[in-house]
Amino acid sequence: MTFVVTENCIKCKYTDCVEVCPVDCFYEGPNFLVIDPDECIDCALCEPECPANAIFSEDELPSDQVKFIELNAELCQTWPNITEQKDAPADADEWDGKPGKVELLVK
Ligand code: SF4
Ligand code: F3S
Repeated sequence: MTFVVTENCIKCKYTDCVEVCPVDCFYEGPNFLVIDPDECIDCALCEPECPANAIFSEDELPSDQVKFIELNAELCQTWPNITEQKDAPADADEWDGKPGKVELLVK
């Protein structure tokens, strides 16, 4: 079992999540974060920290977000680890909740 970062993180990337993870299993891409499913200990601490409500337990994923299981597992292999919060993009709030952001994911 793992937690999964989903579509609404794209272009929001608030990074509050990384501050609470006890095993530092977040990885950062240009406009999205992912969780390494092999490192996540399923503690659930990150889920309520995300202002964009983008983090879900694998078994509670909305059906249209299931593809993010594979995206997290794939992208964590090449993206760098992130352990400290950083400033969100200046326009992060404008992107919160926008549909169709998966098309804007930069790998
Ligand atoms: Fe880290 Fe816990 Fe979130 Fe997994 S559930 S990513 S271990 S904070
Ligand atoms: Fe993304 Fe939420 Fe973390 S927007 S960077 S999953 S706090």
